[in-house]
Amino acid sequence: MPHVEVAPQVFLPLLGYGTYRLEEEQCFEMVYHALTIGVRHIDTAERYRNHRAVGAALRESGVPRREVFLTTKLWWNHLLREQVGAHARKFLEELGVDYLDLLLVHWPNRTVPFQETFSALEALREEGIIRAYGVSNFTAHHLEDVQALGFRPVVNQIEIHPTFRQEALVAWCRERGVEPVAHSPFARGSDLARYELRDIARRMNATPAQAVLAWFRWKEIPVIFGTQRIALLEENLASLALPLDVTLLREIDALPTHVRQVNPPYADFDY
Ligand SMILES: NC(=O)c1ccc[n+]([C@@H]2O[C@H](COP(=O)([O-])OP(=O)(O)OC[C@H]3O[C@@H](n4cnc5c(N)ncnc54)[C@H](OP(=O)(O)O)[C@@H]3O)[C@@H](O)[C@H]2O)c1
Repeated sequence: MPHVEVAPQVFLPLLGYGTYRLEEEQCFEMVYHALTIGVRHIDTAERYRNHRAVGAALRESGVPRREVFLTTKLWWNHLLREQVGAHARKFLEELGVDYLDLLLVHWPNRTVPFQETFSALEALREEGIIRAYGVSNFTAHHLEDVQALGFRPVVNQIEIHPTFRQEALVAWCRERGVEPVAHSPFARGSDLARYELRDIARRMNATPAQAVLAWFRWKEIPVIFGTQRIALLEENLASLALPLDVTLLREIDALPTHVRQVNPPYADFDY
């Protein structure tokens, strides 16, 4: 599995499986299958309420813990110092693991001083409970504030897809040593229905989802996709075998950009 090194010896796979909307038995089945066919990054979150099913799938799969990159996220109202530590330990217990590869702050919350949240994350990293920490849905401005305090979140997991490419934020993150990771890479499915993308995919001898995933691989942006269907999990993983036809992939960069898909009331994108 191709990967990027987000911190010394911390290798984040370029293709990952997201577990949003998956619960209980279905979550177990999908994550178990993902691991058995070779997916090596599993993305979950406190908010998805599926840690136990993810952990059970991880154990049952027989894939050694060190071969799987496990990301989870702290919800935005659990960012006080004592909450960060207590929740991280609870996540370990729920997942049945003794470390997390990456712990993200799911959404920025400026009512809690960044100093407080990030010093707690740094302490967890020093303890070895988490291998790295990062953020999600942060703007450059939030990240600037965090970095000004001396903290170094290694990832910003943000919405990126063909019709919402966030080129400026991706470039900013890379210049500042923060790895952009794409969530919602298919615009929650809506990009896959676009006729331009279907046409590009047809000329690549690929499905629209595979064309999108090849586009991310070409850009070297790690990506986390979602599906509730085993056949689509397999189809998406097979995108790794697609040759990168740069002429066709560039056409994806010329698609019109639209608005965000993920913009809940607690988002802070105007900061
Ligand atoms: N950090 C954050 O705030 C945040 C926010 C949103 C998402 N995420 C992460 O990103 C992951 C992915 O996001 P998402 O699932 O919301 O959106 P997505 O990956 O953009 O799209 C998922 C949709 O695409 C469909 N799909 C997947 N593969 C397909 C294929 N090969 N052909 C046709 N349709 C296909 C799925 O269908 P079916 O479900 O019917 O299979 C589903 O409707 C989440 O699971 C989560 O881990 C993070």
